[in-house]
Amino acid sequence: MAKTINVGTLISGGGTNLQAIIDATGSSEDRMEDKIDARILFTGSDNPGVKGLDRAQKAGIDTFVVDYAEIIKSCKQGVDPGLLPHDFDMEEILEKQQLVTSDTASVMSKDRIEFFLKSRAIAEKKLLDHILAYDIDLLVLAGFMRVLTPYFIDRLNTVPGQYRIMNIHPALLPSFPGTDGYGDTFRYGCKVGGCTVHFVDYGEDTGPIIGQKSFEIEADDTLDDVKRKGLVKEWELYPACIQKFAESVR
Ligand code: GRF
Repeated sequence: MAKTINVGTLISGGGTNLQAIIDATGSSEDRMEDKIDARILFTGSDNPGVKGLDRAQKAGIDTFVVDYAEIIKSCKQGVDPGLLPHDFDMEEILEKQQLVTSDTASVMSKDRIEFFLKSRAIAEKKLLDHILAYDIDLLVLAGFMRVLTPYFIDRLNTVPGQYRIMNIHPALLPSFPGTDGYGDTFRYGCKVGGCTVHFVDYGEDTGPIIGQKSFEIEADDTLDDVKRKGLVKEWELYPACIQKFAESVR
């Protein structure tokens, strides 16, 4: 029997993956046989008013919002150095980050890269102020549509070599990283699609793979069919990967 782990969750939208995880933790009392050894302590969102927040509240889970769009908008008037976390070190973050690669760096000015990293660190510090008030074993990104910079990741992954942030991606990585995995899979003409749960490292969708599930794409499938088939697989895969993590924790 695995230890019951404490999980925090971050979302951006509808939260159907969050719902699958809530159900699997037994919070909804109706699927006890599939119960995983995890309890959800909070759900945070970068987006106010999304359905996933209602799902969490209904299950009695604490919620919070860090409004990224608002923060980024206010930074566009000029980043107030007073808002930057006191332990933010641009040189260190630039050296570690793998979000802006040599390809993208050629079209992004140094100022834009630094604006990106500073504005995200301001938002990430606000996330951390909420998250670090809880004692979590694992942070689960359940449709959280923001990349995380090394500033944030290093404050969760405090033991070298031990990953503590998990993400679900709507494609069979390493194919089709980025924001539209199912769309990219469909447009490429793939006959098989899938989803991947992986740990988060400094790159975009590059961390170690924990689990994958695939499905057939039929000749007459539309993009909506692909998304529907994919989500059904995601709802099975994510709880199973969280359970795998719980079983690995002594
Ligand atoms: C999922 O397809 C997930 O793979 C992607 O965003 C979507 C979130 O869906 N990262 P939901 O909010 O869990 O319904």
